[in-house]
Amino acid sequence: SAAPPEKNRGEVMAEHRLKTSVAIIGCGDVGSTLAYTLVLQPICSEVILVDPKEDLLQAQVRDLGDATYRGQTGARVRAGTHKDAGQADIVVITAGAKQKIGESRLSLLSRNLHILSSIFQAMSPINPNTILLLVANPVDILTYFARKLSGLPESQVLGTGTTLDSARLRGILAQKADVAPNSIDAYVLGEHGDSQFIAWSSCTIGTSPLRLALPQVSDPAFKKDIADHTRGAAAAIIAAKGCTAYGIGMVAASICKYILFDSRTVRPLSFYQPELGCCLSMPAVIGRKGIIKKMPIELDESEQKNLEECAGNLRAVIDGAEK
Ligand code: LAC
Repeated sequence: SAAPPEKNRGEVMAEHRLKTSVAIIGCGDVGSTLAYTLVLQPICSEVILVDPKEDLLQAQVRDLGDATYRGQTGARVRAGTHKDAGQADIVVITAGAKQKIGESRLSLLSRNLHILSSIFQAMSPINPNTILLLVANPVDILTYFARKLSGLPESQVLGTGTTLDSARLRGILAQKADVAPNSIDAYVLGEHGDSQFIAWSSCTIGTSPLRLALPQVSDPAFKKDIADHTRGAAAAIIAAKGCTAYGIGMVAASICKYILFDSRTVRPLSFYQPELGCCLSMPAVIGRKGIIKKMPIELDESEQKNLEECAGNLRAVIDGAEK
């Protein structure tokens, strides 16, 4: 009898459970930057790219492949179908229309919801252990609908949310206080969008509350200026270069790492909040199974009010889309 066909390295790795795969749906600016960040570290052994624009897809696979042949990363990049993607350890969704200059994230909803539902149709049946990471905007609303469309447990469906806004806030505070950003714990919570808010009362630099480490925060104008810069950061970048990519690429790649390494890192990710009826960002512990648990956070009275307003806005958008 004929010898069975020889298995390629990917098949052998899959068989021995050595393979960790991240599928990226959409290989435009954000998807390809994420892929590059994943292979440079490397964070996974295989990156699967999916995009209906066949020429772009093949070109991105070749260009990213070139980066892996030169380096010693060991990661491989290949093109895949939606069906392949649905079997990956993590499926990241970056596909969709992006903001034009001056446009809000919420205005992308009807276009991107349509794209999202066709993606789930094409991926079905999805691997029941997959972790879904939403990146496309409006990310909180799409995370909510991805949960419904995928049928996956709540803990396995998350959005990058305000992790990026929190990184931007850290960057601003780091400059003001002249300390390294990773010595600062400061969270932007709620919507990854215009109704986001800063949990000022829980910000710390080292072990010091912000009011000791950066006394200027007693001035409301100082705080407002920081909040405006944090909220407006993406729009300012988009106005000049047409998209944001490196910041979100790094954030999404880091989240993939927390998942695949089961690192139990705390980040403000967007996930379902049963008491609010929507997905928005609150601090959570993230690991191999997705959202491992929500971290309790003390909000002061005005932050609590911000949270409720933000949830009300998001809930109204969901209700509008469900009609
Ligand atoms: C940003 C996009 C990802 O904030 O919304 O850069």
